[in-house]
Amino acid sequence: MDEVTLAKRTIDNSARYWAGEYEIACRYFAPSSDVRNEQADLLWVRHQMHKEWHGSGVYGPPGENVVTLVERAAKELREMDELTEHDRVEEAVETLEFAMDELKHFRDFSRVRQMITTEAAQPVEEGGLLSEGAALTELRHTLRSRSRAGRLAVQMSESGGLGFFFGVVSALGNGQPRSEPEKEILRAAQGIIDDERSHLGFNLRRSLLAGMSEKEWDELDESLQAISRQKLQERNQQLCHVLDDATLQAIDRGETEGADFARRYLDFWYEKLEIPLELLP
Ligand SMILES: [Fe+2]
Ligand SMILES: [Fe+2]
Repeated sequence: MDEVTLAKRTIDNSARYWAGEYEIACRYFAPSSDVRNEQADLLWVRHQMHKEWHGSGVYGPPGENVVTLVERAAKELREMDELTEHDRVEEAVETLEFAMDELKHFRDFSRVRQMITTEAAQPVEEGGLLSEGAALTELRHTLRSRSRAGRLAVQMSESGGLGFFFGVVSALGNGQPRSEPEKEILRAAQGIIDDERSHLGFNLRRSLLAGMSEKEWDELDESLQAISRQKLQERNQQLCHVLDDATLQAIDRGETEGADFARRYLDFWYEKLEIPLELLP
């Protein structure tokens, strides 16, 4: 099998978990939702702020966060010869752009938090990190240090295929009158989808060009499924367990929507897969 076929199979196999995240957003934000209230909103927003600041294991090894990303780029800039080392300049630009996107996501949810509560802000570190989120971070660190395929799986798992945010837009963006915090949540979700399209495109390109063997692609596939599965658990805990155990088990067994979800929402990934590898932007 060639890289493109292997990449499609990998995306299709994890997509059922991303579709699950979509379903969580639809259920949580449905007007008929009986779990949603101010406390529940505060819980998920604070956890999201933590995720945007620390990256849940995506930004790098333990200890990496938006601040250390900026520091890393600044250190690179100080040490490089900016007139001749073009690759290093390029890398610094990419790191700073990435950090800025994630910082914007943090700011957006921080703004939402301020709109829904008068409670004094707590440090991000204490800001509602949930047990399933800590388990996700741990899993990503383990897989990253295991092998190249593990590291690429961690990178491709960024945003879990964006399922949750597509769900937010679908649930809140249907023209119904919305409260001010809901408008802000919708704006944040749309901004994240725009930014993550480029993050995800970049991550897919990196896997396609890595020159992996089929065995490594198998490992990437399995690792990405494991991360996506844990990410769904995290999302479910973050949003008041709106999916019951029976639904989670059905997703695990592949009895729910999967590849068709990916085809519908991740068109930008499939477009990339139509381009000859040597011409990939
Ligand atoms: Fe983000
Ligand atoms: Fe991201």
